[in-house]
Amino acid sequence: MPLHNSIRVKKRHPLIGAELTGVDLKSSLNNIIFERIHSLWMENLVLVFPNQSLNDEQHIKFGSQFGELEVHPSQAHRSSENKEIYRVSNVDESGNIIQSNDTAWQYVNLSWLWHTDSSFRKIPSKGSILHGIETTKKGGNTLFSNMYEAYESLDVSIKKRIDSLYVMHDHDFIIRQSRHLSKKIDKGRYDSLPPVCHPLVQKHPVTGRRSLFLSPHTMDYIVGMKRNESRRLLDELILHATAEKFVYKHIWENDDVVMWDNRCTMHAVEPFDNTSVRRVMHRVTLVGDNQPISIEIP
Ligand code: OGA
Ligand code: MN
Repeated sequence: MPLHNSIRVKKRHPLIGAELTGVDLKSSLNNIIFERIHSLWMENLVLVFPNQSLNDEQHIKFGSQFGELEVHPSQAHRSSENKEIYRVSNVDESGNIIQSNDTAWQYVNLSWLWHTDSSFRKIPSKGSILHGIETTKKGGNTLFSNMYEAYESLDVSIKKRIDSLYVMHDHDFIIRQSRHLSKKIDKGRYDSLPPVCHPLVQKHPVTGRRSLFLSPHTMDYIVGMKRNESRRLLDELILHATAEKFVYKHIWENDDVVMWDNRCTMHAVEPFDNTSVRRVMHRVTLVGDNQPISIEIP
């Protein structure tokens, strides 16, 4: 019996998200198991691995098998022990809940908005792997939307209108979304990131499927379009792409590891009471292999 048969797969949603059991992420994956996980990832977009009690080094080791890891541009959110660990938490490294008026929380708070990780990079991330260390029961679920389906279900006339468009993405735009951060003089320490231009519709480098490439976090404007027209079109597409039918809601258990493909999904965290509930999540982020590929216009 081939080894990969030890992996059991259960769909979590008809369109996006599957749970994988029978694999220990602490172990080195042999080629057969790696290929099996990779192809299930490509097929399901989001993979959930329950009961994986990883430490940060094991998390990094698991992620590294899929490629090089990013270092997050926000200096305050990198783990001081391992720079590849991004702490998407409302708890600081000493274990205390971060105050609501603290810049470090206000930045993490922006993950409540729909976004795609690292869309502000010239080469955005190909995928993210998030470990739920202290998870929440009231709020704090993570929503994932299938951007292939979002594209495929658009009217032909809209596809024609958007297929060749490009969007300017900017890390500073994230900060401008925050009512609090935008007013502060000290907005936090970030590596310098110039604005970048990405296609609005992209072709996945592995599956070849077309998807909408949206990241409301970082999308400033559509190139060559009047600002208000650009805003209206982007908002319309965001609304369409986040319709319930395209969305898997992940309700966290401690030690879930969730892995998603940033080239065909977007995600958002549902609000929770960040002043009383502890939520500690560690992420590693896979460096992309290429700039987003625009689709060929016939
Ligand atoms: C992330 C993020 C999701 C979460 O890690 O990229 O947006 O559930 N957070 O905290
Ligand atoms: Mn994110």
